[in-house]
Amino acid sequence: MFNKRFSDFRSDTVTQPTMEMRHAMFNAEVGDEVLGEDPTVIRLEELAASITGKESALFVPSGTMGNTITMKLAVGEGHVVIMDDRSHILHYEGGNLSKIAFCMARPLPSDHGKIPLDLIEENILINPRDIDGEHESFSTEKKRKTWGRDILESRYLPETRAISLENTHNTSGGSVLEPEYIEKVAELARKYHLHFHMDGARIFNAAIALGVDVKEITKHCDSVMFCLSKGLAAPMGSMLVGEKGFIKEARILRKSLGGGMRQIGFMAAAGIVGLETMVNRLEEDHRRARMLVERMMDIKNIIVDPSEVVTNIIMVRLANMGSVDFVARMAAQDVLVLPFGKDRIRMVTHKDIDDSDIDRGIFAIRNAVA
Ligand SMILES: Cc1ncc(COP(=O)(O)O)c(C=O)c1O
Repeated sequence: MFNKRFSDFRSDTVTQPTMEMRHAMFNAEVGDEVLGEDPTVIRLEELAASITGKESALFVPSGTMGNTITMKLAVGEGHVVIMDDRSHILHYEGGNLSKIAFCMARPLPSDHGKIPLDLIEENILINPRDIDGEHESFSTEKKRKTWGRDILESRYLPETRAISLENTHNTSGGSVLEPEYIEKVAELARKYHLHFHMDGARIFNAAIALGVDVKEITKHCDSVMFCLSKGLAAPMGSMLVGEKGFIKEARILRKSLGGGMRQIGFMAAAGIVGLETMVNRLEEDHRRARMLVERMMDIKNIIVDPSEVVTNIIMVRLANMGSVDFVARMAAQDVLVLPFGKDRIRMVTHKDIDDSDIDRGIFAIRNAVA
């Protein structure tokens, strides 16, 4: 009935490179990238910077490395980054905030990745001596007036150095942050001289869902990490974009972390094809995700909220069994899904999921919960 072995809904990271990517990889012109001599990497970095409207870009092996480099540079030892309490950086990146960046998170509750602005502001702590660059000790009356809040108590607390948001937001089911909200966060970041980072692993999904040019999102951020290896279907790699000076430092840190990749133009070639040919088709993944969730609505013991599905991720709650059991029942039918907690699973649509996979997924779910 189905002409391939598995329907793999675990993640968009399972996507196979396209034929065009394979040709581009085979034919790529390469050089020693660490010496700055790989023309294909240079082309990819220029393309990524131009698409996102940033000065400069860096090809990194993974999203995790892009985020980690940013945390180390923009937050730094003993300092604090504000992020939502379910963010990928906090939960799924090996504890790199402490292990590599030596910094701390101020995790705050959010509504689908959107932290209330007043909560962000309340949690920003700055040592008075740093407010306008003067290293004075205590004459803060002027500054207190300027800032309109009492900052004296924060003198000995670890300082906030950055805000980081995730767009789309993975564990909320691929939800999207609108440019209007992002702009307001950026205003706060500017007001308090903080670095504003975006974990935009799936930022093109966000742009497509919002119907805006990706620059409408990225223009508010000091740095953005996005992945080539997810919905864009490249075999590996992510981009870190930002100001020239920041990316220059990031390049040095990437080498220290073992991310100098030599003739990596082969992989950059696939990334270029991803950026040039795979962005607009993400709408297809969003359409299939909506189709999938709508067809789940009438399945007993399956709890979904179609209004939450705006991109390519669907979170499904199970009313009558645990996720491990459910995942095994699905796998027995050659349909792969990811457990996400005790009674929740995640399904992701991507370019290797077509309409027949949706049929197969629905059929398997009905059997699994029966
Ligand atoms: C939101 C988010 N950020 C960062 C990453 C990390 O990317 P990588 O797996 O390339 O390290 C992921 C990967 O799933 C992600 O979903």
